[in-house]
Amino acid sequence: MSGFEDTLRGRSVFLTGHTGFTGSWLTSWLTALDCDVHGYALAPEMERSLFDLLGGASRYASSTLRDLNDHQALKAAMAEAKPSVVIHLAAQPLVRRSYRDPLETFASNVTGTASLLEAARNTDGVEAVVCITTDKVYANREWVYPYREVDTLGGKDPYSASKAAAEIVTASYQQTMAALGNGVKIATARGGNIIGGGDWSEDRLIPDFYRAAMAGEKLVIRSPDAIRPWQHVLSACHGYLAIAHDLLSAEGKFEKAWNIGPGDGAALTVREVLNLLAETSTAPEVVYEESHLPEAQTLKLDISKAVSGLAFMPPWNTEEAIRRTGEWYGSYADDPSEAAAMTDLQISDYRDALSETTR
Ligand SMILES: NC(=O)c1ccc[n+]([C@@H]2O[C@H](COP(=O)([O-])OP(=O)(O)OC[C@H]3O[C@@H](n4cnc5c(N)ncnc54)[C@H](O)[C@@H]3O)[C@@H](O)[C@H]2O)c1
Repeated sequence: MSGFEDTLRGRSVFLTGHTGFTGSWLTSWLTALDCDVHGYALAPEMERSLFDLLGGASRYASSTLRDLNDHQALKAAMAEAKPSVVIHLAAQPLVRRSYRDPLETFASNVTGTASLLEAARNTDGVEAVVCITTDKVYANREWVYPYREVDTLGGKDPYSASKAAAEIVTASYQQTMAALGNGVKIATARGGNIIGGGDWSEDRLIPDFYRAAMAGEKLVIRSPDAIRPWQHVLSACHGYLAIAHDLLSAEGKFEKAWNIGPGDGAALTVREVLNLLAETSTAPEVVYEESHLPEAQTLKLDISKAVSGLAFMPPWNTEEAIRRTGEWYGSYADDPSEAAAMTDLQISDYRDALSETTR
């Protein structure tokens, strides 16, 4: 077992966004560590969700389906849960949707984060909060080199701007507000593009690929040459848990922002990911369309700080992440009732690979 798993084992964890894609995977990992997971999020929006596939509310010590901005409900749910760790995933995470509904995006991602931090600093027993933002928090300059945590925050589209704003809200709580409450330690994780089985979100490459493949429809691609730091959802969860471990054990030394991305610093174009996916699964026919919505073309992430400060090194590289994603959706297409078993198997494989690399 890895050191961060020892630290987290058996704890009460308050997890926002538990009905989403990452939250569902993280719940499986935390329950494997005998944690009591208390979820807080909105109900799943899509007919098909990983949350429901893996057993819905039955996996949770409590599951509250309310808005982050319903502050009284959030405070009450956290007080009832008595967590020592809070992991904040809940957000409106889609760039194209943020153009359609910027107010929803700013409300969920900015005041929603303030509501969460305010509840955490006023709840006895909360020691550590990990707020998940994104690699898109940096003012994108279309650089060919990767962004580091010291680079300027920015974000043109509403999603990126809302997450950069969430970084500023969190920094205010880190530096002042938390100290006025219960002294809770707070860090942020700026995650790269996440892939893995069971994501059914709209306008994301992997779900779009498998939706089209399963329905025998064409796959519409708008930015084939966009470069992103793709990582498996388990690598992202690994980074978030490593940050929680350090907040719990290092007396505030690690109250910082951390880039969490692929270990080899890899960044592939959308077209390269499509080619690798086609090696693992039957690919749909691809059609290319112009996009009228501005989105960054080149985005790479430097994770040197997490490697040296957290000993974070994901054992699966981007190719393996894509292969595992194909494996999950292949199993789902054959037999959807195997989703929980495949998820657990991949978590077990990831943890084994992690033990190998840290041995
Ligand atoms: N998926 C990626 O590629 C990626 C990359 C970097 C960072 N992130 C971040 O990781 C987090 C999780 O992303 P995901 O891909 O699992 O998203 P998801 O859409 O699958 O899940 C989002 C979750 O947030 C909840 N939520 C949204 N608005 C809410 C509100 N107002 N009140 C309460 N709950 C609310 C939803 O109900 C859901 O549980 C987000 O913060 C996202 O910005 C995702």
